[in-house]
Amino acid sequence: MMDRKKFIRTCCYSVVGAPLSISTLQGCTGGIHYAKASFENGVISLSKSEFQTGISKEEKSRKHVLLNVDFSQFPVCVYKTGSDKYVASLMQCTHNVCGLVVEGGIYACPCHGSEFSTEGQVLEGPAQENLKTFEIEVDDENIFIHIA
Ligand code: FES
Repeated sequence: MMDRKKFIRTCCYSVVGAPLSISTLQGCTGGIHYAKASFENGVISLSKSEFQTGISKEEKSRKHVLLNVDFSQFPVCVYKTGSDKYVASLMQCTHNVCGLVVEGGIYACPCHGSEFSTEGQVLEGPAQENLKTFEIEVDDENIFIHIA
């Protein structure tokens, strides 16, 4: 029988290994959502509505969405850290190139146990460098992530 941590690891590696395109995928743990987005002139644009689950009339919101990007085998995670605040982080551990998982409000590395805050800062080693993050702008409806 596969334990929960091993299942998440296996699942997320499968997701990270998926073809690199911007697509939608309702995740294997129920909490992973790949957002629909567009890319132009070094800016990824996605609708804030991607944070809405649409499951109930209450429109529960997601804390984070993922984006597959062409420049990395790892996705970018856009984490909602406040009412209209977002942080976009590359989900690549800075210790030794391993994919991160979002677990319990942090980014966790299944390889050697490093942990990062949702703002990309190291909480627990062995990693010593913060995650790569990207400048973000928002308007009333959209989030713009500057990756160039
Ligand atoms: Fe992430 Fe070592 S690769 S802690």
